[in-house]
This record gives sequence, C-alpha cells and structure tokens, in this order.
Amino acid sequence: MIDEGKVLSLNEMRNRVARFVVDYKDATSEKSDAQNFWRDLMACYGVDSVRRKGVIFEAQAKRADTGNYGYIDVLKPGLFLIEHKSAGKLVTPKGASISNAEEQANAYIAGGSISGALPRYVLTSDFQSIQVTDLSRRKDDPTRTLTIRTNELPDYVESFLFLTAEDDIEAIIREDQADASVKAARLMGDLFTALTKDADTEDEDDPTNEDEETYDASILLTRLLFLMFGDDAGLWPRATFHRFLLDRTQSDGSDMAGQLTMLFEVLDTPENKRDRRIDESFARFPYVNGALFRRDVIKKMPWFDTDMRDALVRACEFDWSRISPAVFGSLFQTVHSREARHAGGEHYTSEENILKTLRPLFLDDLRKRLDAANTKPQLEALHDEFKRFRYVDPACGCGNFLIVAYREMRNLELDLLIKLRTKQGDTQMILDPSDLLNVTLDQFTGMEIKWWPAKIAETAMFLVDHQSNRQMEKTLGVTPNRLPIDIAANIHHANALTHDWAELLPDGPTVWVFGNPPFLGRKETSDEQKAELQAAWQKPTAHLDYVTAWHRKALDYFTNVDGEFAFVSSNSVTQGEQVPDLFPDIRDAGWRIKFGHRTFYWTNESASKERAHVHCVIVGFTRDQGAKQRLFDYSDRRTQTEVKVTEGINGYLADAPAVYPASRSKPLSPELAPVSFGSMPRDDGFLLIEPDEYAGVIADPVAAKYVRRFIGARQLINNEPRWCLWMVDLDPADVRRSPVLKQRLEGVRAMRSNSKAATTREWAKLPHLFVQQAQPLVPYICIPRHFSEGRPYATVARFEPDVIAGDSCFTTVDPDGFVFAVLSSSMFIVWQKTVGGRLKSDPRFSKEIVWNTLPLPAVSADVRAAVIDAGAGVNAARGLRPERSLAEHYQPLAMSKELVAAHNILDKAVDKAFGAGRARMDELARQTVLFDRYAEMIAASS
Ligand SMILES: C[S@@+](CC[C@H](N)C(=O)[O-])C[C@H]1O[C@@H](n2cnc3c(N)ncnc32)[C@H](O)[C@@H]1O
Repeated sequence: MIDEGKVLSLNEMRNRVARFVVDYKDATSEKSDAQNFWRDLMACYGVDSVRRKGVIFEAQAKRADTGNYGYIDVLKPGLFLIEHKSAGKLVTPKGASISNAEEQANAYIAGGSISGALPRYVLTSDFQSIQVTDLSRRKDDPTRTLTIRTNELPDYVESFLFLTAEDDIEAIIREDQADASVKAARLMGDLFTALTKDADTEDEDDPTNEDEETYDASILLTRLLFLMFGDDAGLWPRATFHRFLLDRTQSDGSDMAGQLTMLFEVLDTPENKRDRRIDESFARFPYVNGALFRRDVIKKMPWFDTDMRDALVRACEFDWSRISPAVFGSLFQTVHSREARHAGGEHYTSEENILKTLRPLFLDDLRKRLDAANTKPQLEALHDEFKRFRYVDPACGCGNFLIVAYREMRNLELDLLIKLRTKQGDTQMILDPSDLLNVTLDQFTGMEIKWWPAKIAETAMFLVDHQSNRQMEKTLGVTPNRLPIDIAANIHHANALTHDWAELLPDGPTVWVFGNPPFLGRKETSDEQKAELQAAWQKPTAHLDYVTAWHRKALDYFTNVDGEFAFVSSNSVTQGEQVPDLFPDIRDAGWRIKFGHRTFYWTNESASKERAHVHCVIVGFTRDQGAKQRLFDYSDRRTQTEVKVTEGINGYLADAPAVYPASRSKPLSPELAPVSFGSMPRDDGFLLIEPDEYAGVIADPVAAKYVRRFIGARQLINNEPRWCLWMVDLDPADVRRSPVLKQRLEGVRAMRSNSKAATTREWAKLPHLFVQQAQPLVPYICIPRHFSEGRPYATVARFEPDVIAGDSCFTTVDPDGFVFAVLSSSMFIVWQKTVGGRLKSDPRFSKEIVWNTLPLPAVSADVRAAVIDAGAGVNAARGLRPERSLAEHYQPLAMSKELVAAHNILDKAVDKAFGAGRARMDELARQTVLFDRYAEMIAASS
C-alpha cells in the first residue's frame, strides 16, 4: 500500500522495480499488456492512481507526417510521452536513424495538437527494451538517449526518476544516499563490535600503540568493505564474495579465518602466478595490487563465531555501491571510534560544504572554460592542462575533500571527452581508455595525523576511482581496467605542522591546496599544538587559532610552487583581533583573497538527527592580482547568495578596503568622548549594599544621605537592584552619628590594611572612598564589558550622574543622548562584532580596538538632532515596558513591536550619520560603509 502523502525512498523503488522486471519478463502484446506495463512501472515510483492524475492513456493527437489523428499510448503533458509496440514490432527501418515508435512519437509532438506544455521525455518500448530520450538535451549530447534491456532496469532506477513528477529529484537521491550511509555505518559498526568485542583501547595517532586486536580488526574491516563494494560496484561479477562466503564457509564461522586468509593471498597474487589448482570460488577474484591485501599486515586473523559470520553475511546483502564516495571514509572512522559508535551519531562533512570550497577554488573556472571551448584544439588544449594539476588536502581525515575533488574532476573530464567526441567522431577514439584520462589518482595527496583515517583515505580513493570509471563506461562505453591497482593517491600519515611540505607534497606544476583543518579555538588547543602554531608562524600567536598554522605552512610551501589554496575554518579567523594578525601577513606574501564564504552554519551530516553546528567561513587565496573576487553571503547564516564585489574583499570578508584597524589611545571620531572604566570599590562588600541590606542601611538617616544606586554589568543588563555608599563629600561628623557608616568604614579599612598590595594598603587611609573614582559629572552611558552574541543590539543605557557606575562597566559622557543613539545602532554592533575580540562567542567591548576606532565622521547639526531624536524613540519604546530588563527587552525572539520599530528608525538616522547611501543595509553593506569611513578618516588623520 503506497503512502499517498510521501514520496517513496529510492530503495523501495529499487525493490519494486526488481519485482516488476520479473512480473513482465514474458509480456509480449501491446494490446493486452502495454497499459498495465506502464501503470505498474509508474507504481514502482510511487505513482499510484491518486498520483497518476494528469497521465492520459490513449490521448488523441494529430500526427504531423500524415495530418491524421491517432492515439498516443501514454501522455503526461509537459513531462513524458510513451509509444509502445508489441514484442518484435519495434523496428528501425532500413536507412532510418530512429525506430518506428520514436518516429511516431516525434510525429505527435510535431503535430501541434497536444494541449499544454510539450513533453520533455519520449519513451519507447517493446517490453524487452526501453528507450528514453531527454528532449531538453542537445542532439549531439550522447547522454540524450538511453537504451536498455528491460531486465537491466534495476541498475537504472535513477534514470527514470522523472516518472515520479517530483520537482526535486536530487532530494530523493540525496535522501537515499544518506539513508544508505546510516545503514552501512550500522552494519560496519556491528561487524567491528563483533570482531573486537568492543576492545577498550584505541590509539589514533600511532598504529604501533593500537592494541593488536583493534588494529587487526580495523585492517580486516577495510578489506571486507573493499570486497563487498567490489561485489556491488562491478569490480567483478556481482555477489562473487557473497557467494564465496555462503559456499566456502561453515555457518558457525569456525573456518572463516582460514578461508579469508587464503582469499586475501589470492587477491594479492597476480593471476599468472597463482597455483593452477586453486578452487574456482577463489579463482574468480582478480589480482588487487596496491598493498591492500598484503600478507602479514594482519598479524592474527580473529576467530569467527556464528554471530560474526551472520553480521558479515548481512552486510553483504546491503548494496554498497549506493554509498556516496564522500562518506566512505567517515563511515570507517565512525566504526573505528567507540565513542561515535556508541552514540550512534555518525557525522561527516556534507558534500555541499566540500563543494563550497572546491567550486570557487578551481571547479567553476574549469567548467566555464570547458563551456567556452568549442573547437577540437581548444578542447584538447584544456584537456592537456588537466595533466598539470595536483590536489592536496593537508588535514585530509578519511579523504572526503580529495574524493569529491577527484570525482568532480573526472566528471569534468568526462564532459570534455564527450564534447571532444562529438567534434572528432567516434572513429578517433583511442583504444586504451586509460590514455584518455588526464585526471589520475596519483595527482592527489593528503596528510593526516591519525593513522586509521589516513589508511582508509587511500582505499576510499580507489573506490571513487572505480565509480568514476563506471560512469565513464555508462556514458562513453569504454573504461580503463583498474585492477591490479598500480596508481594510487599519496596519503601520508604525518603531522602537517611538523613536516616540511616541500618534502611530502608535489612541487608543481599547479597545485591546489584545500581542506578543513581542525576547528580548535585557543582554549581547546593543547600545549603541543600551541607550540606547533608558534613554530609555524615564528611570531606571537596569542590571537591566532590553530588552523592558521595551515595558512602559514601553505604560504611557505607556495614560495616556490605555483597554485592556490583555500581552507574552511571557524569564523573567528575573520573577526576581531585575529584578522590584523593573519591577513596582512598573507597579503605581504603576495596573496589576495580569491573568494570568501561569509559566516554560515557548517552542518555535518549525521545519522542521529543531531547535526553539529559550527560557525564557519571559507577563504580562498590566489596570487593572481587580476582574478575576479567572489563573495558569498548568508542572510540567515544558511541561505547563500553571491554578492557582487566592487571594492575588493578584505580579511573581515567585507567588500571594502583592506584596512585592519589597530588599537588607538584616543577616539578616531571627532564626535565621541573617551570611554573609561567605572569606579572600583575594592571594599570587601562594605561600600556596596545588597537588596537584603538595603532596609537596614536606609533606616539609618545619616547613612541614607550617602546611599546611591549602583550599576555593575549584572545590574545594567538584568535590572538587579544594588546600591552603594558614595561618600566623596563625607562630613566626618556623620561617621560618629551613624553606627552603619562606622561599622562599614571600619570594615573597609580592615580589609584594605590586610591587603598584600601596597597600593590597596595605602587606600586604607581613605576607607570612605572607592579606590578609583571615575564617576561622570554629567549624564553618561553605561556599557557592559561583554555583549551577548545572540542579542541584536548593544545592551547599553543612559544614567544621571547620581547613579554610580562600577568598574565591571565602561562609561562615556553623553550630555544630550547622541552617544546613546550611536551605541544602540546596528552600525555600532556590526563594528563591535567585526573588529572586537570575544569572550567565547560573546563580543567583548574594548576602548582601544572598538571605541577608539569607530569611524563616525563629523556630523551636521541636523543629522545630530535626528540621531538624538531617534535614540529618544528607543528609550521611549523601552519605557512602555518599564518592568523589563535590557536582557528581556533584547531577547531576540521576543522584542516588542515598538522597540523594533524604534530601532529601525534609529538605524536609518545613524546609517546616514555614517554616510551610508543605500536603502537596504544589511551586515555586509554596513561593514562596507564602516571600512570606507575608517580608511578615509585614517588617511585624513595621518
Ligand atoms: C576537521 S577534520 C577534517 C577531516 C575531513 N576533511 C572531514 O571533513 O572529515 C580535521 C582533520 O585534521 C587532522 N589533523 C589534526 N591535526 C593535524 C596535523 N597536525 N596534521 C595533519 N592532520 C591533522 C585530524 O585528525 C582530522 O582528521
């Protein structure tokens, strides 16, 4: 029973198609079987009687060739048209290039009587074969028409997905692959657990420290995956290994170890060197070179029992050719990590994110060049260039970036070969297909510190090579034979930061370096990693993330090598103090940004529905000073748009001049007064009054004269009540008159006298005073040291001078409300988030880096008045809900309508004050304005 609301999974479609093929193997008569044939095939794709709406059987239509009306067998206007013949009646007349059925279909299409859009696909069949032509493809495109035997249909299920009439066919395929990966990971996990009995020790860096059982099981698993993949992906006749297991091994698993050992030996022996007497079930396997099955690598084959053999047989039943090559590696990694296995959470980098790096780095340019190449010499010249390219991932994990790069380059090459073939005709095809390939595994190099991912990256590369070859065979009809393996990717098990890249990596001719080195902030790096970072940069690295060591290594490597590089990293490298420490060095080495993906959520694919989120950026670099720069922006951190770059991309990934604001001792803006810390009590609590003490203090009328509201960061943001005794004009007689004052001042004196710090002891002589008094004498703004990342505006407020600001806040004078308005604007928070440092992810306000660099130019009296007015509007909107704290006012999901409206008005006024001309100001547009102003004001001031 088909669920009407849900599109079937590709796997279910495959199962149904397999049954369909059996059901119709003997059908011959158009009259009695053709309609059911197509109805049932559509049902295999989930198109049942409900979904079949719009599909017409026996649709009357005019034929262009005869001018008469006839009946199209099946028609879905806008999508497909089907002409069916009885067995033996589908013929291609002598001298014609198409069959009688196809000719008939074309005549109906040309007849002009089909209402609605013309069909895109033309299908013809005589039960034994099916042909589909995609009319949207060019006539010289060899992928325009596919002809298969009906019994091959299960292998071509994807090619008929258009029958579903779903808009997003890619989504069905993606879901299928994700689903398959999860299943595969479980099967592998079961197998590994059975093999190791969940052994406890793991050493990811060094195989010699790995406990032997885990090591052997890991290697064994790689081999088994290879064999199961070979069974499904056409490395040898289907299910050869599966049959070997069933035929050659006992169901209790007792002879499994011995049989597998023998099989591995056979796989590692060239056919002509094998013992002539070996059994046929072994002889069927080809020679696989590439050290995959080398003897003695597995020290001790594990004993199998019934459960283990069952787990392996179950795994063989799975179709391993369905696994997306990009996740091969991660699958193994999950299996190997006990923690990941137990959490059931496999996660790996999605292809989409990998392509965000590879496309703008080189794939898009090459694709464009291929599209533009229209003559045979142009195509050949481009193809020849492919020989020159080398690809490097210096933190490759299981090789997913390399795998996707390889597959994409092979796809590009295939398209090039197809185009070339249409130019030169079939006759000139070279006999040895490997001579056609200028993209080869040995052009791909990886470095990986952990032994296990490094090991499997190599195997995974071989598997993707095989998939690309299959694709080539399907399209071009020829493919190189890859067994025995004699070309492999170069995967080095090595620490990329302690090796000289020149020794391990290619020295040209053109190298692309890419990847996602570990996302580790300063806090998460070990001492060893900090030392590696320092050694790479040879300069202070207090602000730099670990990933930047890869940037430095790339700069060094490229000194004598031609090429470009791009890394994914956490967005911290394009924010705050890190930027001036990183980007000027890259620029000084002769590089500029080729492309940038501004902050987006990096989601990992995950079997458990949890998806790991990291705020990422991707930055690519080139030495080509004339290269067009590309910038990708994410409006909600998810939806990508490519924006037009007009000024150039700077290290903050803004379309703006390459300026890197440096710390200043005075405000750059003529409109802003300096900020300073609030007053510091250093009092052990004797000068401060907590809510539970307030009534007691205020009951003392003498002490009450000195009580003032006190604002620290918590009081500012959460409206928590607190007071202090502010005694700058203390009358000494009051101390005698007030027991409260006396007791409190004695407390302060005792605490300060006992202090270890001499300066504090000195202040014991003045116990009635804060040790640092910075209280403004006019209305002022109180600014917390940190803002919360999630809040859309800075949480600041304006106070009268009789409210005392503590030293957990900054203050700046604001006699007329102008500064409040500026600080409350989007311009300010954008500047803060762009150039300021952070505490974890929370923006950290700073005098020297944020305030003193804020590039607010001199403003006219009119603009100033408008800004002040708009700021008052924000205050008024807050005043409508006086019970709310700033934290509540600026809860991003619950701001009041009035407050949002007031901020919008304020933003317009402040944007104008900064000289913004555009109507629509988002974060990127504001950054552009801010950096433009900064560059102008710095130039004018020097
Ligand atoms: C974020 S992962 C990326 C791997 C892979 N591209 C992926 O998406 O799964 C970073 C990889 O760098 C490796 N790594 C960490 N430090 C390294 C170093 N110093 N040298 C080489 N590889 C390193 C880690 O083991 C990990 O596999």
